[in-house]
Amino acid sequence: MKRRLLLTLACLGAVQGGAAASLSGAALEQAAQDYQAQCQGCHGVQRFGASGPALLPESLSRIKPAEVREVIAKGRPASQMAGYAGVLSDARLDALADYLQRPPATPPSWSSEDIRASHSLLNDIGRLPATPQHNADPLNLFVVVEAGDHHIDILDGDRFTVLARFASHFAVHGGPKFSPDGRFVYIASRDGWISLYDLYNLKLIAEIRAGLNTRNLAVSKDGRWVLVGNYLPGNLIVLDARDLSLVRNIPALGQDGSPSRVSAVYTAPPRDSFIVALKDVKEVWELSSRDTPDWQPRRIHAEDYLDDFSFSPDYHQLLATSRKAEGGQVIDLDSGRAVSEIALPGMPHLGSGTYWQRNGRWVFATPNISKGLISVIDLETWKLIKEIPTLGPGFFMRSHINSPYAWSDVFFGPDNDAIQLIDKQTLEIAHTLRPMPGKTAAHVEFTHDGRYLLLSIWASDGALIVYDSHSLKEIKRIPMNKPSGKYNVGNKIEFAEGTSH
Ligand code: HEC
Repeated sequence: MKRRLLLTLACLGAVQGGAAASLSGAALEQAAQDYQAQCQGCHGVQRFGASGPALLPESLSRIKPAEVREVIAKGRPASQMAGYAGVLSDARLDALADYLQRPPATPPSWSSEDIRASHSLLNDIGRLPATPQHNADPLNLFVVVEAGDHHIDILDGDRFTVLARFASHFAVHGGPKFSPDGRFVYIASRDGWISLYDLYNLKLIAEIRAGLNTRNLAVSKDGRWVLVGNYLPGNLIVLDARDLSLVRNIPALGQDGSPSRVSAVYTAPPRDSFIVALKDVKEVWELSSRDTPDWQPRRIHAEDYLDDFSFSPDYHQLLATSRKAEGGQVIDLDSGRAVSEIALPGMPHLGSGTYWQRNGRWVFATPNISKGLISVIDLETWKLIKEIPTLGPGFFMRSHINSPYAWSDVFFGPDNDAIQLIDKQTLEIAHTLRPMPGKTAAHVEFTHDGRYLLLSIWASDGALIVYDSHSLKEIKRIPMNKPSGKYNVGNKIEFAEGTSH
């Protein structure tokens, strides 16, 4: 497995730039020295990150190699990251950029001891009031991620004002998740930092670094456990939800012992369990969270590797895309069998699809990352009922039980400033909005009652725009720095129809 990973990385390097593949041993040696002389103070001796983010191949995988080179040369505005163009020659900058894309000589490790040593308690819950210390409706708060400058805003969902704003760790990853009563929010960052925040007292409670590269986290139905899924090291980390202390470190090993990365973890409340997708072995895991869990995975065989998935409304089935991406597979979680295949031609982003009732039946709609269409599936027969052409490939779809529309962004291509509203009954596009022409409009979340919704303008000089969900009139515009995601406490803890899981 390790060999395969290395091979893949080598291939990537070769494709990315001829120069990279031909870099001499001496140049790499120089790059390693330059790193230690110029960069490790902020990015860590082992590139695990410190005040600056981790710089491992896994950490940089979402950025284009040219951008990595550009950041090193020019820095990032309004951050500690200065440019090195005047300090190092072009050739040495090239070599550094290449060096960062290679795995370290000694494979990175992050043990249970490392995790424990990273734990910090910032406030004692026992001494804080157990009722909301603000006058906003605690179930209509929004947690907003400002990805541009790595901050979190807590927004009053009735008055649309910011109650609190605090720095997050670098690059929040996956949606923040809530305790069942809505008091606590759990936030994961790309580099593995998990934060616990008290929405009643507007205070950080605890932090811990659960891994070096994290996908996302989930909170158990009873609110006792937090499960973190990691790429690096490939494992699951169970934390005590009260203070984030380490409970269990579970390596992600397939039935035959081969190691895997974890694609995603979700909680399935009606099953009182966690569902885990593995990226490098063809298995789905179910971990019971009932009573005193033994954390032994129930292994379900999958037809292909699982990248992204969603549940049926009753959590009996799982809809998954896979690497082959020529379609989806439906796995029955009770019998553990693959029950159906779905024709989905355009690389669906199932994790952000949504479902609703139409003519008394459940339908599921998902955007596609490689094609400008929305696929609508009947959740009983798993048949594709409609493909709705859109202005371009989308990323997020959201709705609310009280809204007649499913809101879908056009994330990719020249029309990425458009938002398209699909009539949930006719399955036709009813409206196309362009909130800020020329700027990406994306990711919608409704207020708890569904009367209003918040939409992001995904730019450093972006905004959060509040719309009336029926009249479609703009109510308010709050300037924000790349407000990537927003999460309504009430909708999330009720696992409401139309929101993401
Ligand atoms: C004074 C601290 C500091 C030093 C020294 C420093 N960096 Fe950074 N670096 C940062 C911070 C902070 C960021 C995050 C900036 C942001 O908010 O996007 C960053 C971001 C980066 C990124 C982008 C990472 C990402 O995932 O977006 C790269 C690449 C990078 N630095 C490489 C380097 C290299 C190579 C050196 C040495 C030549 C270096 N840095 C030196 C603080 C530093």
